[in-house]
Amino acid sequence: MDGIALHPDWESLLRLRDAPSPLPDGALEGALGALFGPLLAPPRAADGCIVVGRLAQTLDGRIATASGSSQWIGGRGDILHTHRLRALCHAVVIGAGTVRQDDPRLTTRDCAGPSPVRVVLDTDRRLGADFTLFREGPPTLLLCAEDAAGPDRLGLAEVLRLPRSGRHGEGHGGLHVPAILAALAARGLTRIFVEGGGVTVSRFLAAGCLDRLHVTVAPVLLGSGVPAFTLPEVARIADGLRFAWTVHALDPDVLFDIPLHRARPGEAAGAAP
Ligand SMILES: NC(=O)c1ccc[n+]([C@@H]2O[C@H](COP(=O)([O-])OP(=O)(O)OC[C@H]3O[C@@H](n4cnc5c(N)ncnc54)[C@H](OP(=O)(O)O)[C@@H]3O)[C@@H](O)[C@H]2O)c1
Repeated sequence: MDGIALHPDWESLLRLRDAPSPLPDGALEGALGALFGPLLAPPRAADGCIVVGRLAQTLDGRIATASGSSQWIGGRGDILHTHRLRALCHAVVIGAGTVRQDDPRLTTRDCAGPSPVRVVLDTDRRLGADFTLFREGPPTLLLCAEDAAGPDRLGLAEVLRLPRSGRHGEGHGGLHVPAILAALAARGLTRIFVEGGGVTVSRFLAAGCLDRLHVTVAPVLLGSGVPAFTLPEVARIADGLRFAWTVHALDPDVLFDIPLHRARPGEAAGAAP
């Protein structure tokens, strides 16, 4: 396993963030290049986006205690990794549940690099304007249902209205995920980091809208709490999603880097359509 937490090559990788693609041969060598290089590659999906989902979970698959506390499941290396994902991506997406619980800033503070546009998913506009994201910092978009009442701004955030997923027969709840990606791509935001929580990452996965998963597993057992992934029930083990993965040491945690086939996430990316 490669140690990636305190790697010296971050600055040179960051310089490739806005380089014209495809990148020159040899540009993405080393442990950081192997981990982040796929995110800098030209998008393969028709929507023109590359989407990476990330969660830090316990050994028993929890991302927070039952009361919602999640700081911090992963160690310093995982926090640095999360900030690097923010720095490499154009937009960071989070669900309303995480805003309500954590009141995050979603800026890039632990590594060099720009902060992404912040994107909050709040279907029915239950969040008030007093959260930090809506009062200060980089640009923020609030994405809600097209039938949700309210003005076109929430504090400093611009409000975008999108179809609900149910109208397209998906049944995952929330907003239609492909419409989320189309709305972001229309603004030039094509490298998308879905930072959590579990409901949000699961909805992107179930909708076939994730290219990659980064899951940090910490040596912690809670025995209860908020689940990492919630997906449609399966009857047999064989029906679960089974992945190929690359494992990185993120001392004291372990990071699983999982390439996904968008439409069939249980098959390795790159498999014949
Ligand atoms: N360990 C980690 O890596 C990590 C990361 C992030 C958060 N957390 C923790 O996880 C907890 C929150 O996670 P969670 O899974 O309960 O909730 P969440 O994913 O943060 O938010 C879920 C809510 O976001 C909205 N939403 C999500 N996807 C949507 C979509 N496609 N369209 C429209 N709206 C969408 C919905 O809000 P409405 O129901 O209001 O419409 C949904 O109920 C907190 O305790 C937080 O601290 C942990």
